[in-house]
Amino acid sequence: MEIARVGVVGLGTMGAGIAQVCLQAGLEVVGRDVSPELGERSRERIDHYLSRGVEKERLTQEDKDAALGRLSLVTELADLASCQLVIEAAFEDLGVKRELFGGLERIVQPDAILATNTSALSVTEIASATSSPERVVGMHFFNPAPVLPLVEVIRTAHTSDEVFDAAYAFAQRIGKEPVACNDTPGFIVNRILIPLLNDCVRVLDEARVTPESLDAAMTNGAGWPMGPCTLVDLVGIDVHVHASEALYEKLREPRMAPPPRLVAMRNAGLLGRKTGRGFYSYE
Ligand SMILES: NC(=O)c1ccc[n+]([C@@H]2O[C@H](COP(=O)([O-])OP(=O)(O)OC[C@H]3O[C@@H](n4cnc5c(N)ncnc54)[C@H](O)[C@@H]3O)[C@@H](O)[C@H]2O)c1
Repeated sequence: MEIARVGVVGLGTMGAGIAQVCLQAGLEVVGRDVSPELGERSRERIDHYLSRGVEKERLTQEDKDAALGRLSLVTELADLASCQLVIEAAFEDLGVKRELFGGLERIVQPDAILATNTSALSVTEIASATSSPERVVGMHFFNPAPVLPLVEVIRTAHTSDEVFDAAYAFAQRIGKEPVACNDTPGFIVNRILIPLLNDCVRVLDEARVTPESLDAAMTNGAGWPMGPCTLVDLVGIDVHVHASEALYEKLREPRMAPPPRLVAMRNAGLLGRKTGRGFYSYE
């Protein structure tokens, strides 16, 4: 089946980024969020990033206009009926995702592919909300989706080979570097990165060092492109704590559990870049 029109459900940080990647690859995108205002905000965000691309001569003004012309914004799930692939990037909540997949299965064509961008939930549990789990696959993009090349393409015990292969080929077609993996907690990158970042935060207290020193140690000593405190601020303290809790729940390894310091920051609303304060201040 030829994928020409892609639905993106949830147009927040990830959904807007995924929509932008698909638009730039020449696809029609139908973006769905719960209100027209949220949809409009995502259009503005995509417009902003494409305009920066025009300024930097990575694309032409005509390319940008054509890309935005391929985006339509809807609030009804039923408006995704003609999409051959739907990528879900709504809140990281199993109940929300299961309800969406149950609804989507009734709306799209029987051969349409349903993909979830979940970071730490089980793709299998999301798929089991449908009566056709063979067409459900994970497509885990990384933030910022227009910049980072990786897409983890996740197969459950039920995903058909045809659907898996089509999702993998689609990731390649939109210019990404897919890796195949199975539906295990945290897949590949988060399974490694989340406990590692938790260790980094614990070292802050154990070694009595500042975020600046820890970041300098890891960039200058371990060759990390960005220090761990800078990275957690970028990801969002709330997003990181939520993913840690989900992994801890599944694996019961102490390193997966969010360090109390991060939980306290989350509770205080110090969420990193998006709130202007986390380990660092962003005025
Ligand atoms: N932020 C990251 O670094 C990152 C990276 C990879 C994957 N993810 C995953 O991507 C998903 C989205 O994360 P995000 O950071 O973009 O969240 P976000 O909060 O920025 O956006 C979520 C969006 O989903 C919308 N939404 C909620 N319920 C909806 C529904 N029923 N229908 C349509 N839209 C709905 C919200 O209005 C919001 O716009 C999560 O599953 C998350 O785990 C996040």
